[in-house]
Amino acid sequence: MGGAALPGPARLCALWAALLALLPGGARGDWMWLGVAPFGAPEKLGCAALPLSGRQQELCRRKPHLLPSIGEGARLGIQECRSQFRHERWNCLLAAAAAAPAPVPAPGAGPLFGYELSSGTKETAFIYAVMAAGLVHSVTRSCSAGNMTECSCDTTLQNGGSASEGWHWGGCSDDVQYGMWFSRKFLDFPIRNTTGKESKVLLAMNLHNNEAGRQAVAKLMSVDCRCHGVSGSCAVKTCWKTMSSFEKIGRLLKDKYENSIQISDKIQRKMRRRDKDQRRIPIRKDDLLYVNKSPNYCVEDKKLGIPGTRGRECNRTSQGAGGCNLLCCGRGYNTHVVRHVERCECKFIWCCYVRCRRCESMTDVHTCK
Ligand SMILES: *[C@@H]1O[C@H](CO)[C@@H](O)[C@H](O)[C@H]1NC(C)=O
Ligand SMILES: *[C@@H]1O[C@H](CO)[C@@H](O)[C@H](O)[C@H]1NC(C)=O
Ligand SMILES: *[C@@H]1O[C@H](CO)[C@@H](O)[C@H](O)[C@H]1NC(C)=O
Repeated sequence: MGGAALPGPARLCALWAALLALLPGGARGDWMWLGVAPFGAPEKLGCAALPLSGRQQELCRRKPHLLPSIGEGARLGIQECRSQFRHERWNCLLAAAAAAPAPVPAPGAGPLFGYELSSGTKETAFIYAVMAAGLVHSVTRSCSAGNMTECSCDTTLQNGGSASEGWHWGGCSDDVQYGMWFSRKFLDFPIRNTTGKESKVLLAMNLHNNEAGRQAVAKLMSVDCRCHGVSGSCAVKTCWKTMSSFEKIGRLLKDKYENSIQISDKIQRKMRRRDKDQRRIPIRKDDLLYVNKSPNYCVEDKKLGIPGTRGRECNRTSQGAGGCNLLCCGRGYNTHVVRHVERCECKFIWCCYVRCRRCESMTDVHTCK
């Protein structure tokens, strides 16, 4: 089903319990599993039981108190990816969920996002960016909450401001610097001497997109103020810097995804645009980059783990992404009538209960052929 997220919790629980036993440690990208059960409370499992790479294991052992933030960062990223793409042909479905009808995905199926994590497409770019941003966001929130010794609110601002304009810095300003540092340390693997140009350019692309995600958090920092003064006169204001909601960051990254830049698969000293006519336009650090064109995601491809859009719920009247036209790739749609029963016309009866009627309504639901 279209927007419906994951299969039933009980089923997933069993699935993940089995996966926990099977997952290979160390495969790159696997840390994203920390955003889903049973890694949901990673601090309870301890570093060694988690799907982390060697470097991440070491960082985890040195800073175990960061585990809840790492899990929360992964959860934020996954949730935002699902939300931003819920109406698209590629709906950021997790590999485990796509494979759910099968008993248990093979451990070789490794990464949480399946094919998209390594395809080098725009979808890969978005996943890396949103996950890196999630980590910055959650670590920074934890810093501001005073949960960490190595970071806190932004103290450089204290006592600053402008008395003449009637405001000063106060309260707790979010300081993203530590979160940015940690996200880099945890996610950015150095580009080693890998074999093959393909993997080298993919690594460079992933690193760039990680940073683009972090830049989105930094760029959307804003200032909140509170008024003081007699009866709301706002004679004095206290202001602090705050991160945007993660939804807003997700929206910016979705926008970057839609305007992402294809780069050449021949890596020279640095990455270049594939389009020769545009090579002079510099690549900015907050641009999302991809190497390979995406599949159209219309039809099922078992080998790549692409479910296709058949059976997805679509909107008959919309001409946009979730509309039946685009989502069903021109194959048309089926219409079912769904009956809803709900309590309605509720009245409060003295004293003390509520009496309701049962109302039935019919709605048309359209699903792609
Ligand atoms: C800070 O720590 C407390 C207690 O461990 C926890 O309940 C809370 O969720 C944490 N807050 C953040 C933002 O990490
Ligand atoms: C990278 O690989 C090349 C050729 O395969 C080799 O000559 C070079 O020494 C390697 N560099 C490093 C840092 O390992
Ligand atoms: C379908 O799309 C139309 C037009 O974009 C929109 O107004 C409507 O709310 C959508 N319906 C649902 C159920 O999302």
